Amino acid sequence: MVRFGLVGCGRISGYHLEALGYHDDAQVVAVCDVIPERAKSAASKIRAATEVAWFSDYDQMLKSGGFDVVSICTPSGLHPYQGLAAANAGFHVVTEKPMGIALEPVDAMIKACRENNVQLFTVLQNRLNPTVTLLKQAIDKGRFGKIHFVQVNVFWSRPQEYYDQASWRGTLELDGGAFMNQASHYVDLVQWLAGDVAEVQALTGTLARNIEAEDTGAAILRFQNGAIGTINVTMLVHPKNLEGSITILGERGTVKIGGVALNRIERWDFEGYEDEDKLVAESGYYPTSVYGHGHTGFYRNVIDVLEGKTTDFINGTAGRKSLELILAIYQSAFTRKPVGVSDGA
Ligand SMILES: NC(=O)c1ccc[n+]([C@@H]2O[C@H](COP(=O)([O-])OP(=O)(O)OC[C@H]3O[C@@H](n4cnc5c(N)ncnc54)[C@H](O)[C@@H]3O)[C@@H](O)[C@H]2O)c1
Repeated sequence: MVRFGLVGCGRISGYHLEALGYHDDAQVVAVCDVIPERAKSAASKIRAATEVAWFSDYDQMLKSGGFDVVSICTPSGLHPYQGLAAANAGFHVVTEKPMGIALEPVDAMIKACRENNVQLFTVLQNRLNPTVTLLKQAIDKGRFGKIHFVQVNVFWSRPQEYYDQASWRGTLELDGGAFMNQASHYVDLVQWLAGDVAEVQALTGTLARNIEAEDTGAAILRFQNGAIGTINVTMLVHPKNLEGSITILGERGTVKIGGVALNRIERWDFEGYEDEDKLVAESGYYPTSVYGHGHTGFYRNVIDVLEGKTTDFINGTAGRKSLELILAIYQSAFTRKPVGVSDGA
């Protein structure tokens, strides 16, 4: 049995608690939120043999212990500080995406996890979508030949009321904008699928929402393998989410995964036939939200790693790499100059 403590009982925490409730070898034993009613309410909803402890003070939860892993579901800017404290207290860390919104605290968390010999997992659950898994397999087999062009579109709708739900949303201190928050899974997938990015040029704007960070932006990428790509993002689609897609155009293959959130393969065209081709039609699904259903599979992997059944997981280095790319996009938009991206080593 792997035991979890969870901090931040807001919107995404429900996906974590539901996913953990699904696995018989996992148990949530403690929850924490600075708003006591949220922690209390979350604790009361968890099915458990013994009462789930609730806290309004994170340090108190860490001191009290009784779990193996801390799952961090608080505003993004807090993740690395809370992750570092969990690691120093000897707990494994699951951090929601993004791992943080600046590299320095993220590097300190990664170092603390290494020094305390605990694992660091990043919730990049879209990598586990059945559609994305098929595309990754095709890429790994070299079915595209040379990749020439990659396009990502995240055309979603986030009205002002969404940002007004919590004071941290859209702030530079704790959230960031459309690239850092809503599109961060897509920025991660671009480099995970098509390879490391060498250079970016970007424009961002706060065109319609009353927030500090961007609601819209476009980035042009040059990959180390020579491919070119674009990431186009806006939260201003009227009246509802339109598209969350990735298109890869290669020498010998063309694939577009679309739908509102990478939930449907719209084009799958390769020279030659491979077994995975017959899975394309059935890989699509209807997500109840753009977050998808990936938290369940994500936690299966976390538990398997901690039970020593696998060593393959989305670790801190993977999360850091996508953060580095997002920060390069922001730097380019700010300086109006191309920005080089290191290889994330
Ligand atoms: N993986 C995904 O697809 C996905 C989807 C949505 C959100 N997220 C991420 O999850 C995180 C939370 O997003 P959300 O939409 O649930 O936000 P939210 O505002 O609904 O919830 C955050 C909760 O954290 C609590 N909190 C704030 N500071 C705290 C502290 N110091 N200690 C304890 N609790 C504290 C707040 O009271 C709130 O209840 C963000 O980083 C976001 O990017 C990930």
